[in-house]
Amino acid sequence: MASSQLFTNIKTLVTNDPAVDNGSLGIIEDAAFIVDEGKIAWVGSAGQAPDADQQFDVDGRAVLPGFVESHSHLVFQGDRSVEFAARMEGKKYEAGGIRTTIEKTRSATDQQLKTNIQRYMNEYLRQGTTTVEVKSGYGQSAASEVQGVKVAATCTDEVTLLAAHVAPEEYAGRQDEYVQMAIDEMIPLAANYAKWIDVFCEKGAFTEEQSRAILTAGVQHGLVPRVHGNQLTYGSGVLLAVEFDAASVDHVVYLSDADVDALANSNTVATVLPGADFSTRNDYPNARRLLDAGVTVALGADCNPGTSFTTSIPFCIAIAVRDLKMSPNEAVWAATAGGAQALRRDDIGRISPGARANFMALDAPNHLHLAYRPGVPLVSGVWKDGTLTH
Ligand code: NIG
Ligand code: FE
Repeated sequence: MASSQLFTNIKTLVTNDPAVDNGSLGIIEDAAFIVDEGKIAWVGSAGQAPDADQQFDVDGRAVLPGFVESHSHLVFQGDRSVEFAARMEGKKYEAGGIRTTIEKTRSATDQQLKTNIQRYMNEYLRQGTTTVEVKSGYGQSAASEVQGVKVAATCTDEVTLLAAHVAPEEYAGRQDEYVQMAIDEMIPLAANYAKWIDVFCEKGAFTEEQSRAILTAGVQHGLVPRVHGNQLTYGSGVLLAVEFDAASVDHVVYLSDADVDALANSNTVATVLPGADFSTRNDYPNARRLLDAGVTVALGADCNPGTSFTTSIPFCIAIAVRDLKMSPNEAVWAATAGGAQALRRDDIGRISPGARANFMALDAPNHLHLAYRPGVPLVSGVWKDGTLTH
């Protein structure tokens, strides 16, 4: 039988509710909230809390919305630690490394793929991430990509068909033919299981024209665009994303003034993924420049076996604060409400009436500790739809 639960004795509550405190995190000190039927029913000061069927004493901890990961590549098999080690000894990262994972992923069974997705979604969850977008993209054949999105759809509502990640071996030098195959064979079938269409618009991956063709086909099949852009070089990914009113453009490391202006005047979120820049020894994106221009910034971990084999959003928050020049408040917002906006969701990323009761408690008096205490496992409880999961 469903019963209401009062969470109380919260030292610092991050609500992300503009009605509480516009322009910041909607923080309430000495707070409480009520969960009813998996949703937030009431939020306010502990002293004014109404009665509920059950009470949960948070013991002076901080509580914040579950992190929203808007960018992961969990449909994969295999390990690329040797490639990582070579990079740390000076080898440059190239998109071609993706082909190593394609080979392994193509021969996986549905169960192997599902086990892998669940393993890393569970890692995310333990560290406070209650929503995870999952991309395919290591199949790069119609059959393997359809398999990937179909399996991913059994694990999350946020499934992305990364139709063009890198042209596989058998299409080497025949990129246009690969794109045509994706349009004719892959996208129409995969669209039954995915919500988003993504493309890696980058030197060594796909050109602007090829990327435009992929996104156009995705839209024709009811998918909503998101783009990997400007990760390794200056290029047209950002402008293409804005042209398509994409939900987000991700990586955004190498940006022209025109890119920043276009983002500032769009509905497209710029998603920074500093785990990838960390593990490829790439430059970091200048999140400060984006924020100062009025761009909406989201922060994700980008878990994938090639460039960013981490599921730790707290780790990415620490980097974002130290090296992307975000304030701790901006980084926490970007990893919660920002991720929700990048997925065009208004039911997650906040603790305010009507939202899904997805939240975490920290072994810390406030959210600043996420960046202040890097590498420390502060997440001490995670609730999804009102149920304690960890
Ligand atoms: O988000 N940018 C392209 N895709 C992945 C990495 C892919 C790989 O190297 O396996 C990323 O960084
Ligand atoms: Fe990616």
